[in-house]
Amino acid sequence: MTRAVIRDSLPKEQRSVAVVDMSANLAGLEMTSPILTASGCAAAGRELDQFFDITELGAVVTKSIMLEPRSGRPTPRMAETPSGMLNSIGLQGPGIASFVERDLVWLHQRGARTVVSIAGDSVEDYAKLAKILRMHEGVDAIEVNISCPNVADRGKVFACEANSASAVVQAVRRNTDSRIPIFAKLSPDVTDITSIAIACVRAGADGLSVINTLLGMVIDTDTMKPALAGVTGGLSGPAIRPVAVRCVWQIRQALPDVPILGMGGIRTGLDALQFILAGANAVSVGTVVFNDPTAPMRVHRELSEALASKGFRSLAEAVSYAHRSGDEIIVNEAEAPSDGDGADQDLDQM
Ligand SMILES: Cc1cc2nc3c(=O)[nH]c(=O)nc-3n(C[C@H](O)[C@H](O)[C@H](O)COP(=O)(O)O)c2cc1C
Repeated sequence: MTRAVIRDSLPKEQRSVAVVDMSANLAGLEMTSPILTASGCAAAGRELDQFFDITELGAVVTKSIMLEPRSGRPTPRMAETPSGMLNSIGLQGPGIASFVERDLVWLHQRGARTVVSIAGDSVEDYAKLAKILRMHEGVDAIEVNISCPNVADRGKVFACEANSASAVVQAVRRNTDSRIPIFAKLSPDVTDITSIAIACVRAGADGLSVINTLLGMVIDTDTMKPALAGVTGGLSGPAIRPVAVRCVWQIRQALPDVPILGMGGIRTGLDALQFILAGANAVSVGTVVFNDPTAPMRVHRELSEALASKGFRSLAEAVSYAHRSGDEIIVNEAEAPSDGDGADQDLDQM
């Protein structure tokens, strides 16, 4: 096996303090950090801005917005689960007009990069949302939440069927300025997530957000009834991380060049590193923010330290690293046999 040192590495003791280039690019969305919020877990960023400067985030991904105001599903709509939580909030929100006026304007004035998440009951809803967003400043990208029931198709979730998923993506792409990237947010509740990913990319998605929550259910053993008023809910948090990493891995294998925003149960920098190594170009942090509102900045710092300790100079170098074969692999000079000067050259045959 050929091992290659592709650059000069630092001595072990200096690696954790080395400066790593943490910039990330998601389909042209240039970010100084690869850490974004996850839709629905930080509203429009106002509350988080009390804990840290939200302009330091890769981007704020806003709660999915629909055309009209919605009160969401009845309570109780949160339940704790081992290593996660179940929610059935049901896309509660003020509707696009109020969102644009209150939140989008604020985010733009604040100088935060903004990914607006949209959701609808029909393909036409998504098209209308995209048309409205097109008229406003401050939209850096659109995340298309396709984990919504398609009213015209017996409530079947758009993300679970390739044709419905493509129809939504196509409608958003047609009605969005070509300079604004759009990301399709995929559901893990499918047999073959890569076929949905491929359909979305063919329909015009510039990138993929992977993954939304998994459908789950909890029974309250005191009442002997479902714990959530909505019966089922979306499972999030560390419990879903292995599923999410697997989805990122499979999609990266099927689509080597498509930008991926990974998410699902990220709590620490090492969790985020798993996603990057599996093929994500950036990550969103969601449920952890409810326990620790400073988590996005902490995860950024921990990821940077983890990358430095492994000898990476940049985040980009680590993307998809777990897919590389032995002869493409970067190793630290300190770990490689010391029969050369180590800088920018192939080393040894093993
Ligand atoms: C309370 C809550 C609300 C959410 N709302 C949305 C939403 O509006 N739109 C969306 O695309 N995803 C929504 N999600 C899913 C998250 O964005 C994310 O995909 C998922 O929770 C996995 O990441 P996590 O484990 O880090 O939370 C929500 C998740 C939670 C926990």
